[in-house]
Amino acid sequence: MQIVILNDAAEVAAYGADIFSTQLQRKAESVLGLATGSTPVALYQELIRRNREGLVSFKDATTFNLDEYLGLHGSHPQSYRYFMDEQLFNHIDVDKDKTHVPPGDAKNPLTACQDYEARMAAAGGVDLQLLGIGRNGHIGFNEPSSGLTSRTRVKTLTRETIEDNARFFEEGEYQPHLSITMGIGTILDAKKVVLLATGENKAEAVHAMVEGPLTAACPASALQLHKDAVIVVDLKAASKLKDIEFYQHIEAENQKLQDYLASL
Ligand code: F6R
Repeated sequence: MQIVILNDAAEVAAYGADIFSTQLQRKAESVLGLATGSTPVALYQELIRRNREGLVSFKDATTFNLDEYLGLHGSHPQSYRYFMDEQLFNHIDVDKDKTHVPPGDAKNPLTACQDYEARMAAAGGVDLQLLGIGRNGHIGFNEPSSGLTSRTRVKTLTRETIEDNARFFEEGEYQPHLSITMGIGTILDAKKVVLLATGENKAEAVHAMVEGPLTAACPASALQLHKDAVIVVDLKAASKLKDIEFYQHIEAENQKLQDYLASL
C-alpha cells in the first residue's frame, strides 16, 4: 500500500484528480471504477473543471460504479445513478451509454449481479478503481464479515451504514436496507485502486485498514493484498495511524526516486 498523507480534503481531491487525469492521458479508453458518497464530490468537481478546460477527456472512457441501493430506480434522487449523473456525468464529455451503475430496479437482482460482472469483464476489467471507506471499514457496500473474495452480489447494509446514509433521505422517506455491490474480489481485480478518506470520523477505519490485521471484520484491509493500492488521506483521517512519520518518510524518498528517474 502507498500511504499519502496530505494537509486537508482539498489536497486529497486534487491528488485524486491527478491520478485520474494521468490515467486518462495514458489510456483514453480507460475503464474507471467510481464511487458515490461525500468524499469523492470534491474530486469530481475538480475533474469537471479540468474537463471544461480541456485538460482531461472522458469521451473514450467506460465507467462502472461500485454499488446501488436495491429497490431504487435510477431516476430516484437518492439512487446512486442519479447522484453520478448530477455530480459528474452531466458535466463531462463522457458517453452516458458507457457509464454503468448496478441496476437497483432489476427484476432479478441475482442475474443482474452476474450480468454486471460480465460487462466489466467484457470491457477488459477496471483500470482504476476509486473508493471511499465507511466508518466500519466497508468498501463499496461490503460490510464487515463480507467474503474477501466476494463478487458482485446483493448485500444487506448494517444499521451503522443505514444511519450514516439517513442524512441523504427525507424524514419518513423509504430508505433501502439492501444493495447491489461489487464484491471485495471484484475490487481487488482492478489494476489500480485509489482510496480517499478525509475527516476525523474515518481515522479509526483508516488505522484498521492500514495497520490492522487482514480481516473480513475490516473489509478495506483486503487492500493490503493489492499490488497497486494508493491510500490518500488528510491529516485528520491519518490521526490514528501509528507510523505516520514512516509513511511520510517513504513518500519523500519515493519523490526523490521519481525526480531522479525523470532526470535520466
Ligand atoms: C459509495 C460507497 C461507500 C462510500 C463510503 C464512504 O459508492 O461505496 O463505500 O465510499 O460509505 O462514504 P462517504 O464518502 O460519504 O463518507
